[in-house]
Amino acid sequence: MLTIERLSGPFGSEITGLDLNTEPDSATFDKIVEALHRHAVICIRGQQSLTPEKHIAFSKRFGELEVHVQSSFNLDGYPEIYCITNCVDEKGDALGLAEAGRVWHTDLSYMREPSRCSLLHALEVPVDEDGNPLGDTLFASCTMAYEALADEMKERLRTMKAIHSYRQVYERIKAKSKPGRQGLKDFTEEDFQKVPPTIHPAIIAHPHTGAPILFCDFGTTESFVGMSQDESDTLLEKLTAHTVRPEFVYTHKWQCGDLMIWDNIQTQHFAVDDYWLPQRRRMQRTTVKGPAPRAAG
Ligand SMILES: [Fe+2]
Repeated sequence: MLTIERLSGPFGSEITGLDLNTEPDSATFDKIVEALHRHAVICIRGQQSLTPEKHIAFSKRFGELEVHVQSSFNLDGYPEIYCITNCVDEKGDALGLAEAGRVWHTDLSYMREPSRCSLLHALEVPVDEDGNPLGDTLFASCTMAYEALADEMKERLRTMKAIHSYRQVYERIKAKSKPGRQGLKDFTEEDFQKVPPTIHPAIIAHPHTGAPILFCDFGTTESFVGMSQDESDTLLEKLTAHTVRPEFVYTHKWQCGDLMIWDNIQTQHFAVDDYWLPQRRRMQRTTVKGPAPRAAG
């Protein structure tokens, strides 16, 4: 039987009693969507045997799927699945991106239509010598962060717009990349031109609940429109420090078989780098397209 319970933290819930190799009926799926919008992140436990086909089929219930621009890390035969792993094949070649999410970010916010949600399936979770999980993912609620802003800041941001770019997040992650760790593939100017920067309102309305959301992140936001780079950097650092305060952050400790779904529009996330081969981390992600963000009213 399906149960939905709050996770320990300021937001988030976990779902048990589901096997996604059998497609949920529409009443069950509606409960999952409602929980996602209400709790921002949901973890469906116990999906160790979920196949790539069923992962894709379930993800498509939320909408059309994206194919990631770093296509060399897409799963063979399943381009909608992006591999996030530090594992290598017998020749030592990367089986996926090891250094995903090393800066706070919202997935694909550099697109005109950022993703609605992402579904990350944990196939292998690294552990320390005592068996404790490593490689936590931190999620911050940008709805809670907005609510807690001072009225003057809310008013200041209300009409502002921010420029988001893939180049920004690419360079931020590259700057943190460690030697001997498989990071992002080299991108040419031509590659970057295929994903040009885009502009979004700094405060957007959630497309389903209407709740206002602080929509700028350290990873992908280049600058605010009409501001000098210095002024913009200062504001972005201040807003990021505010958004990732502990009272707005849920830390996910992974279990093998977790299918973590995050409402990408109302959250940011960050992947902790505290493991190294032979500690293996192997994850597969699908990403669902969303609507173009609109300014909160
Ligand atoms: Fe991400």
